[in-house]
Amino acid sequence: MASTSTDIENSRSAPTTQLDANEYKLKIFQSTLNCIVHITIGATVFVTLMFAFRNGLPIGTTSLHVTLCVIGYQLLMAQATLALSPSNGWTAHLKLVHKRRIHWVLQIVGSGMAIAGTLIMSLEKTVNWNTLHGKFGLVALVFTVVSLVNGFASLYAFELRKCIPGILSKLTHICFGIVAFAASSICLIYGFDKNFFKNWATIPVTNTLIAFTTIFTVIIIIDPFISFYRKSRSLFSR
Ligand code: HEM
Repeated sequence: MASTSTDIENSRSAPTTQLDANEYKLKIFQSTLNCIVHITIGATVFVTLMFAFRNGLPIGTTSLHVTLCVIGYQLLMAQATLALSPSNGWTAHLKLVHKRRIHWVLQIVGSGMAIAGTLIMSLEKTVNWNTLHGKFGLVALVFTVVSLVNGFASLYAFELRKCIPGILSKLTHICFGIVAFAASSICLIYGFDKNFFKNWATIPVTNTLIAFTTIFTVIIIIDPFISFYRKSRSLFSR
């Protein structure tokens, strides 16, 4: 029987050895996680924006705060981190130089929006950092600013190698970035826990959003954790 073009395509990409087969399974697993991460981010950000714009335009200070923070942290900073991951769908085929460019552009825009969103809310309040939501938001803010400054040191690691060893600026950048993103997600979860959000979204939807936020946060920080571990091992094995 004559083989079809699909048969030829399948046989070409079929894994030949056990090692290939395991690698192929790992790739399927990574692609599945990547797919889950984009779906959960999309759903979470979409529902949060629906909440912020529930009364139409113009939006108040709290809604502006929600919009800026969720787009800044959970959309742009999340995509900035994912852009460097080898298994991320939309950046996997780009050159490293372009992945890095996407990373720093998204980080700067995302951090700017997140910082503005946090400051707008803080200026509106008379007593600051008195809720768990606010406290985690403050941790996210501080680590975002430090990670942003530190990111420039990583970007110009070669030029700055005489002042600060490249590996050190990269390790601290990864570490501060992980803390900033994790704190922003914990803060968002406390935001979902506010009564006016739960009343609008209903308890099952709120719980789903909390689960989604936990899932994408854990998946997103896996890659930076691995590269932090690898980089620190290479530092100590020198
Ligand atoms: C990643 C997302 C978010 C971040 C980083 C964030 C950050 C913050 C911070 C830092 C404050 C405290 C300001 C201060 O005490 O000076 C705050 C307050 C507030 N946020 Fe958010 N927020 C986020 C999402 C949300 C969401 C989704 C809601 C509502 C559904 C919300 C509603 C509020 C409200 C009502 C306050 C004032 C009361 C309080 O301090 O707890 N925020 N936010």
